[in-house]
Amino acid sequence: MSEQTTHATGAPVRIFDTTLRDGEQAPGISLDVKEKLEIAEQLGRLGVDIIEGGFPITSQGDFDAVKAIAETVGAQPLAQGADQPPVIAALARCHPDDIKRAADAVGPAQHGRIHVFLSTSEIHRHVLHHGASEDEIVAQAVEGIQRAREFTDDVEFSPQDATRTDDEFLKRIVDAAVEAGATTVNIPDTVGYAIPHDFGATIGDIVRRVGPEVAVSVHCHNDLGLAVANSIEAVRHGATQVEVAVNGIGERAGNCSLEEVVMALATREDVLGRRSRVRTREIGRASRLVSTLTGYPVQFNKAVVGKNAFAHESGIHQHGVLQDRLTYEIMSAEDVGLEGRQIVLGKHSGRHAFSAQLEEMGYDLTAEETKRAFERFKELADKKVEVTDADLEALVADEVFAY
Ligand code: KIV
Ligand code: ZN
Repeated sequence: MSEQTTHATGAPVRIFDTTLRDGEQAPGISLDVKEKLEIAEQLGRLGVDIIEGGFPITSQGDFDAVKAIAETVGAQPLAQGADQPPVIAALARCHPDDIKRAADAVGPAQHGRIHVFLSTSEIHRHVLHHGASEDEIVAQAVEGIQRAREFTDDVEFSPQDATRTDDEFLKRIVDAAVEAGATTVNIPDTVGYAIPHDFGATIGDIVRRVGPEVAVSVHCHNDLGLAVANSIEAVRHGATQVEVAVNGIGERAGNCSLEEVVMALATREDVLGRRSRVRTREIGRASRLVSTLTGYPVQFNKAVVGKNAFAHESGIHQHGVLQDRLTYEIMSAEDVGLEGRQIVLGKHSGRHAFSAQLEEMGYDLTAEETKRAFERFKELADKKVEVTDADLEALVADEVFAY
């Protein structure tokens, strides 16, 4: 497909959260109805546009969870200032039973969406669809979309493994899906194979192909660590919806991370020209809740929500941020609902941060006491990864009372 950048429209990018569906597919995660509802409520407060609550045909629990979310979070806005509740979506294969189950689950929501999918790449067709031909796949997709449209006027279609699908066939099935009534066309990078440059060009072509009435969405997996970059590139080429999961959880290396995409849009609006409607101050709480209920820890250096995302250890960095946080921070911890910048004292820290920390703890040492305490701090820091406030207290007590 040829490359041509579509200029940003300025409209907010719609955030489709799939923590409760694709996120839950991560190995070892199983959320019950109550836990799903708790996360969905937080997603509501966060202000995501669409919540994919589950895949109702797969279990009674998933059906019940999506229905409960539709009845509550899908019935009234929870996000401050929002005038609409989020759309509640459910996943279905292009099978009549799946679609009916999804329709019944999202039925109670003010806005329900059925998300139908089937595989289009050669390998997926061979393995998952008994070697179905392109014609057969198109026919099944059209039938599924038309059936879903009997229940709702909000139908999303995903050609699974789109990025390994033949270009011409992808165009053909996208055209057929729109013709059959899909209102959102989602392009999944199911195995995280895409590279931003190519993916952006593909999305630009699809955006032009389907026209402004049809939403173009992307769903990027993170196998090469490129899910966020691919999603942002898609937005630059006119995608109007991005599918994400809190903390980037999901199959294998996970899905595109909600917090990273949202903060990239917010922080680099100067270049991207579009934001999302997400209340960023709710991000920290969402991240902690998802981590607790899934049992998936957040890596220390995870962008935006990791323990170290706003922590500074080296002397030069500490000296910089103590004077002006912008020296080494591009967003503030408070903006994403985390505690403010942290100065972590360790072997790379300097006198400046050391003295500032003692002052904050209420100590008023003489220059000589500070000098001696700093020397002892450096000795200790060589043996210990992090020097805590308790260590400092002991160290100062030794210093002040020893003389
Ligand atoms: O990764 C994928 O292709 C999916 C689809 C069901 C959208 O999760
Ligand atoms: Zn997926």
